[in-house]
Amino acid sequence: MAKKKIILDLDTGVDDALAIAYATAAPDVDLIGIVASYGNNLLDVCAENSLKLLELLGQTQVPVYKGLPHSSTSDHFDVMQVSKDIHGNNGIGEVQLPTPKRQVEAESGVDFFIEAAHKYGKDLIIVPTGPMTNLAAAIEKDPSITKLIGNVTFMGGALTVEGNVTDVAEANINQDAKAANTVLSSDLPETMVGLDVTLRTLLTKKETAKWRALGTKAGKAYADITDFYIDAYYNLDIDKNGCALHDPLAVGVSLDPSFVTTIPLHMKVVYEGHNYGRTIGDNKKLNSPNPNVNVAVNVDKERYLKTFMDYLTKLFQKH
Ligand code: BDR
Ligand code: CA
Repeated sequence: MAKKKIILDLDTGVDDALAIAYATAAPDVDLIGIVASYGNNLLDVCAENSLKLLELLGQTQVPVYKGLPHSSTSDHFDVMQVSKDIHGNNGIGEVQLPTPKRQVEAESGVDFFIEAAHKYGKDLIIVPTGPMTNLAAAIEKDPSITKLIGNVTFMGGALTVEGNVTDVAEANINQDAKAANTVLSSDLPETMVGLDVTLRTLLTKKETAKWRALGTKAGKAYADITDFYIDAYYNLDIDKNGCALHDPLAVGVSLDPSFVTTIPLHMKVVYEGHNYGRTIGDNKKLNSPNPNVNVAVNVDKERYLKTFMDYLTKLFQKH
């Protein structure tokens, strides 16, 4: 079987940084590129964070493409204060990494998605862990890609639990609910890794201490970056027992769907009115065949966490 090709679409904050490490460390997969989004920080900062982290992990062969700088329904983006509080002013927990040697690519992230869909077809997995603005723009530019791409496994949404920005809206969906609706209501095969499962999958300082003890640059940097996030979770009273592994769980599920149990649904995203950002089953398609979204509702967190630690520890040992 051909090796799976994976593209991450990241608004590189702390858990996106962990997603890069997981995708780099996982066997039998090629990380063929990263598309940058706005979200946890400005587009340019998120793109530069990805380049810095790839260099730290010895992955300078991976290209980074810039996506769109703001949502499909606005003409401007400002970083929310809560994003700075959770991810630090620089998005990566105030940890200073060297200016990357590699630059972002000239091609746009939207065109890179379209090109990769035509080139790799069903072997292509796309993992958006930020707003869906870039993928929605690619679908609008070339609607044929929804039938080509193997799977989109995204971090976002909340079906059986409340949102983390409003009662109903999760942060990534909240940034651009209209774009999320374009993606979810298309016929793309998708897996939703939302707050239903990511809030159950926690990392603590016991684990990050193991990375620091490796004595490597990457082990220390990743321990410091993640400890900032664990402290924020504690201080903001999001969870006093550790930080949620939102984005790396989506990468894990994209490669091994058996980490989660799912229900198949036709989904929509509400993008107007008081339920803005809600991810919910589409009543109009209740009796339609072949639901395209598998929504994760439970997770084997012990097995996932063990895999996560095995992969990342081995990676940080080398760098
Ligand atoms: C999601 O929002 C972002 O802040 C995180 O990186 C994650 O992708 C969690 O709601
Ligand atoms: Ca993210």
